[in-house]
Amino acid sequence: MQADDILALLDKAQSEVGSATNSQELEQVRIAYLGSKGRLKEIMKSLKDAEPAERPAFGRNANRFKVELTESVEHRKGELAGQASEPSGSAFDYTLPGKWRQVGARHPISIITERAIDIFHAMGFTVAEGPDIETVFNNFDALNTPPVHPSRDPQDTFYLESGELLRTHTSPVQVRYMLSHIPPVRIVAPGRCYRRDTPDATHSANFHQIEGLYVADRVSLADLKGDLSYFAREMMGPGVDVRFRPHFFPFTEPSVEVDFTCHVCDGEGCRVCSHSGWIEIMGAGMVDPEVFKAVGYDPEQVTGYAFGMGVERIAMIQYGIKDIRQLYENDTRYLCQFE
Ligand code: DAH
Repeated sequence: MQADDILALLDKAQSEVGSATNSQELEQVRIAYLGSKGRLKEIMKSLKDAEPAERPAFGRNANRFKVELTESVEHRKGELAGQASEPSGSAFDYTLPGKWRQVGARHPISIITERAIDIFHAMGFTVAEGPDIETVFNNFDALNTPPVHPSRDPQDTFYLESGELLRTHTSPVQVRYMLSHIPPVRIVAPGRCYRRDTPDATHSANFHQIEGLYVADRVSLADLKGDLSYFAREMMGPGVDVRFRPHFFPFTEPSVEVDFTCHVCDGEGCRVCSHSGWIEIMGAGMVDPEVFKAVGYDPEQVTGYAFGMGVERIAMIQYGIKDIRQLYENDTRYLCQFE
């Protein structure tokens, strides 16, 4: 055996180490080359037969054979041990049922309120807010409601022991806002309202309104009609018709009720609109001079329009909801479908 033959043998041994697929195979390779009767022993024996001039190279290569092959065997041993601790096959079990992650959804009342606010925002309105617990002054007196008006009756209004009440509409936000701001004013005020109504398919003791108020030096009924018609089209789609019916509210003069063509039957007449083709959406009118006086505005200097719309009304016709109580039962299976 020559010194170079040792390196050739080292190559061969290493490739066998690399192709060992388990620890038994590896141990056989180790014994064959490094064991007490293995090839390394043979190499050492033939060292003394080598030419004296070749001995140093022979010795170096023999040493290299031992060191490098031992290292390779140890390295491969580690690799095989690592493989053994890994699970065989894929860890993904296709037969397990999928994980169901529940995601929340916005409530239809919130969806409609936010859309309405967006539409008015584009028309220059900002959002104002007021508390649910109000004074009699803000809710009734300042809004020119006569002392004997039926809406003041404890049978219709929730009075608190403090003498305050749960607001019956969002109109008191008009009063609060005008008392604390000088004109011009252009606000929408969304919020909860409370009335002593017996709940049925279209009534709830607790419901939502969006109030609107625009006061400047020359606001007219034509502005009211144009702006609310624009809102109707943005909210319900371009096909909607709007109708203004004369009405009475203590805080506006003249006053109107505003109807939209029924969304369900397109004005043909159906159960939802009591076969009239129209659905009442809001009350509105030109702010009564008495209201301006109550908040310290000069009715000779400013005019304005106001409106108050029922959010549930809009949600019910937009989504075809037949019973208002479904909006308050908090059944998430029901509420999740409106996103
Ligand atoms: N507050 C009235 C209601 O609850 C709705 C309303 C009518 C509001 C006319 C207004 C308005 O601002 O001008 O029935």
